[in-house]
Amino acid sequence: MVDESMRAALRALPKAELHLHIEGTLEPELALELAERNGVMLPWTSLDELKRQYAFENLQSFLDLYYQLMAVLKTADDFRDLMLAYLKRAAADGVRHAEIFFDPQVHLGNGLDLDTVMDGLLEGLRLGRERYGIGGGLILCIVRDLPVESARHVLELAAPRAADLIGIGLDSAEVGYPPSLFADVFVRARELGLHCVAPAGEEGPAAYVTEALDLLHAERIDHGVHAADDPAVTRRLAEEHIPLTCCPLSNRRLQVVHDLRDLPLRKLIEAGVTVTVNSDDPAYFGGYIGANYEALAEIGFTYDELKALAADSIRASFLPEADKRALLG
Ligand code: HPA
Repeated sequence: MVDESMRAALRALPKAELHLHIEGTLEPELALELAERNGVMLPWTSLDELKRQYAFENLQSFLDLYYQLMAVLKTADDFRDLMLAYLKRAAADGVRHAEIFFDPQVHLGNGLDLDTVMDGLLEGLRLGRERYGIGGGLILCIVRDLPVESARHVLELAAPRAADLIGIGLDSAEVGYPPSLFADVFVRARELGLHCVAPAGEEGPAAYVTEALDLLHAERIDHGVHAADDPAVTRRLAEEHIPLTCCPLSNRRLQVVHDLRDLPLRKLIEAGVTVTVNSDDPAYFGGYIGANYEALAEIGFTYDELKALAADSIRASFLPEADKRALLG
């Protein structure tokens, strides 16, 4: 058991969160409140009924709920409030900098325009910096099981606001939607000056990690735990200094592993791969970033090991070197 002093020490570690979907911070209470405020009909009327939907069997069963609840987000103020609620929690967990995914295609599909979404999220970031001293930025996330044409379209819509973005990423169903589908979208993103990250090896194979490196020029791999299945892929991540943004509680809740001890984090670290700890969709997976660090402490990671992972999260961020040094100092 992690005692109170360890819990406090882990939360006090300065850290960066690099794998966080802002829509995945939509707590069920806020979802119902926004549904009522915005006149959105959901199939569940009570909190208890909604909470019963959170027993996921796999990635897809989670995604079905995640996309359905996003329909309650309608105004720039909703996005601002969602962002602020996350930043308050993250700051309490020692997060000093967050690189945050958002899913514009889904919001466009719900009838919103890109400016409403981005203005709200950026206002939340501005207020979060002011109120909680936490910095951060946005990564435009492409939904990989929508048509590739939709990805191209949303990137062109976002192009005039590229300066408001840190990077581009991917999310949603992995198997059957290989990174190669998005090679030209990522070429365009690089032309716009965006950093490139990509999930691979969450439910998909180690070969998707290789594709994400070769074809998308991913600078970080999100999840990536299946890279450990292939020694050549593991070696490449180490040699090319490509960090992984791992999400232990997500992996357990989505049944990527049954027990956190089955995650190959130590194996990857010992092979020289930079591993970072993140919360992915904390409102859905049973805990924010602090709870993810605690979960690793519970399976035997020491304070010093977790302190090293927290420092690595800052190094693996896209912050300028001087800002990294300031946070690490
Ligand atoms: N995996 C894939 N897509 C996602 C996730 C995830 O854990 N969270 C939000 N979109």
